Amino acid sequence: LRTKESTKGLEADATSQDYVELGRAVIDLIQSRRSVREGFKQQQIPPEVVDDIIHSGLTAPSSKNAQPWRIHVVSGRDSLDKIANLVQANKQADSFVPIDPETGVPREWSSTVAESAQILREISLGLFIENQAPFSGGRSTVIAAGEDFRPSAVEGYGFEIMGMGAMVENMWLTARAHRLEGVFMGDVLVSDDEINNILGIEGDLVGVLALGYTDQEPHPKILKSGAVIFHD
Ligand SMILES: Cc1cc2nc3c(=O)[nH]c(=O)nc-3n(C[C@H](O)[C@H](O)[C@H](O)COP(=O)(O)O)c2cc1C
Repeated sequence: LRTKESTKGLEADATSQDYVELGRAVIDLIQSRRSVREGFKQQQIPPEVVDDIIHSGLTAPSSKNAQPWRIHVVSGRDSLDKIANLVQANKQADSFVPIDPETGVPREWSSTVAESAQILREISLGLFIENQAPFSGGRSTVIAAGEDFRPSAVEGYGFEIMGMGAMVENMWLTARAHRLEGVFMGDVLVSDDEINNILGIEGDLVGVLALGYTDQEPHPKILKSGAVIFHD
């Protein structure tokens, strides 16, 4: 990686005005993050910015510090277009929606695969996330696990994915600090076999953090009620 580790700023005395202002800026960056899907410019991202984003991902917390991820960095226009086309052309593109596993009935959401493919055509950088699955062995192993071991496999898988969430958020926020915006997309899983082939992914594809420069203002967010309960 071409970036140097930087703790400049955080070295400031915790009671100093600088520290308070720096902290407020970080909090604002976190709370104003939104998924941005439009208005991307065809503009290259400097390599040191890409490295800084990746470095933030790699320093994320993970269960047992297993660092279960591998990041596949794709910035070539042809590669992003190729992946976009095969995602959109997938036979299941229109029916790729969450399904109730008890009944097989699709849940309330409709497919967003075509929109996600279009985003891939417009962004400058796709960070494809692989779960190397050190605990669970990956989705197919979890599915195939015998009854006795399945709960442990599901728990392990959940912990792996929590690590992925932390690393994606670290990268996303760092990208924003560099004036990049974007969205994380699980829709690419509709074509996970083909993408795994192209990128040499041996574990599970988890999704892609799609980033670019854009003029699009993030939309305001309506928060769901009942998400927090304070206890004595
Ligand atoms: C695991 C995960 C998968 C997602 N997959 C997609 C996707 O495939 N396509 C898309 O447009 N947005 C996707 N999103 C973005 C969500 O739609 C978005 O985070 C949500 O609507 C909340 O909006 P906000 O990010 O602006 O706060 C995904 C987000 C997460 C965390």
